[in-house]
Amino acid sequence: MTSNAESLRNRAFQAIRGQKPETVTVLSCLLAVEDELGYIPPEAAEEVARVTGSTINDVWGVASFYTNFQFQPPGRHRVEVCWGPTCHVKGVMPVIRQVMDILGIDGEGATEDGNVSLRFNTCLGACANGPVISVDHHLMGRITPDGARHVLEEIRNGIPSEDDGAS
Ligand code: FES
Repeated sequence: MTSNAESLRNRAFQAIRGQKPETVTVLSCLLAVEDELGYIPPEAAEEVARVTGSTINDVWGVASFYTNFQFQPPGRHRVEVCWGPTCHVKGVMPVIRQVMDILGIDGEGATEDGNVSLRFNTCLGACANGPVISVDHHLMGRITPDGARHVLEEIRNGIPSEDDGAS
């Protein structure tokens, strides 16, 4: 039986080896792992170090330099709130407060039950429709605090994410 650590290591290795064109940079490997797992667990950092011939300190040095890398497993549903300049001007702060309030967290990260993870984004690419949030990669523009509450209640009530049934 494969342990969780072994499984993470294998998936990280396959993601690193699956890069096209094949590269051996620490950054490209970390990006491949983040795409596959949604975060960088210690087992994956060890695989990146092994494959690239780097030290584990080098790998963590690169990973921690870029704010986009996550080091905790993502929640089942992924909510991103844009706090870029346009969305800021268009009133995203009350939306952010509402989202954090409903999720019971005070910043980026996953809820205690692992159902939802929250990330902030500096631009979701839909500035004209700001404030913008993304739920499981679906963009929603002109979102209000009430709109955000509605969306999060749908998640809580079991509206399936796009990942459901994928494995
Ligand atoms: S600044 Fe929010 S979508 Fe661009």
